[in-house]
Amino acid sequence: MTATPLAKDDLPADWDQGDPETLGAEHASRLAELEAGGSGWAGFYERAARGLAAAPDLAALKERHTRLLGRERGIVTGRLATLGDLTAAERKTTGRALNLIKRWLTELEGERRGALERALEARSASGFDVTLPGRRPWIGHRHVLGQIQDELLDLFHGLGYSVYSSPEVEEEAYNFAKLNFPPDHPARDAHDTYWVEGGHLLRTHTSPGWVRAMEELRPPLKLVFPGRVYRAEQVDASHMDQFHQIDGLCVDRDVSMADLKGTLNMFARSILGREVKTRLIPIYFPFVEPGAQLDVACAICDGTGRITEGATAGRCPVCKGAGWSELLGAGMVHPHVLRAVGYDPEQVTGFAFGMGLERIAMARHGIPEIRLFLENDLRFLEQF
Ligand code: DAH
Repeated sequence: MTATPLAKDDLPADWDQGDPETLGAEHASRLAELEAGGSGWAGFYERAARGLAAAPDLAALKERHTRLLGRERGIVTGRLATLGDLTAAERKTTGRALNLIKRWLTELEGERRGALERALEARSASGFDVTLPGRRPWIGHRHVLGQIQDELLDLFHGLGYSVYSSPEVEEEAYNFAKLNFPPDHPARDAHDTYWVEGGHLLRTHTSPGWVRAMEELRPPLKLVFPGRVYRAEQVDASHMDQFHQIDGLCVDRDVSMADLKGTLNMFARSILGREVKTRLIPIYFPFVEPGAQLDVACAICDGTGRITEGATAGRCPVCKGAGWSELLGAGMVHPHVLRAVGYDPEQVTGFAFGMGLERIAMARHGIPEIRLFLENDLRFLEQF
């Protein structure tokens, strides 16, 4: 037997991890006492004490305690058993140190065991397990139509357009008469809507916004009008009684059809890609003259409506032979509309365009059913 004290390194280094605060206030004075005795046991005690006081759970605590003070193989116990082999002087210092260490470690083990047992009880009593991973907060995002609207508004913002908001519950005059729909004109048939008390109606398009903007402001104007619109439609996979549009309006001196065409082509390329093929064909809307429709070529058959696959030729299955799909309506603002807001059609001209957001979203994402936009089914919404 030797009187050389056990050292820190006789114990695993990871016993030092853990919070030294758990050792309590007396720890420092205990270390001082061991050092003052000149026994050389302070380093060993330091690590042993930390190992017990910060044992992560009951199993680790038990294992550490056995290693130190186990009756058979505990290293402190082993040294105590051989005190008798030392000289009387050695026995005095070493024996004193070992007995203090044994007492303090026993005390620390008891305290730590109590604390771990209490924590275990509290956890099972409250049903709260601090060791389980936390729940991720659920973070929402913009609706797919909102995303497309943001993207389009951003694009028009880059072209110098500002947003103008106008009411969803509209006066008949703004929805129809001031936009050059005569009272019994068949063009109103496509705009059947819901009527509200006092001759008001739910707007059938965002075009009434131009009239309100022009009555309020003087040219030059470059505005976009996003919003929800309503129609008394028979609901099916591609029709709903509410949907979204964005209209655009540009009024200034010398605005021409060429400006309209340039704007629309730039718009179509931005949303559908540089390669997209477009065509502008004449069509009637009461509030523009001439009126036009911008079509984009079917991406599968390139506008031909037919495909050749090997030796056989046939109808394009995607556009069903049409070759083109309608993207928006447009035209030069009708002189009657300009006059109705007090503008002089000899002085200023303007172009306008209007598009449906659902149609763009459906084409872009291959969404087959318009009702999905309004059902608020998370399985649908989370895909975008
Ligand atoms: N407001 C029309 C509709 O909902 C669409 C439209 C056509 C808007 C031509 C326009 C335009 O601005 O110039 O059917």
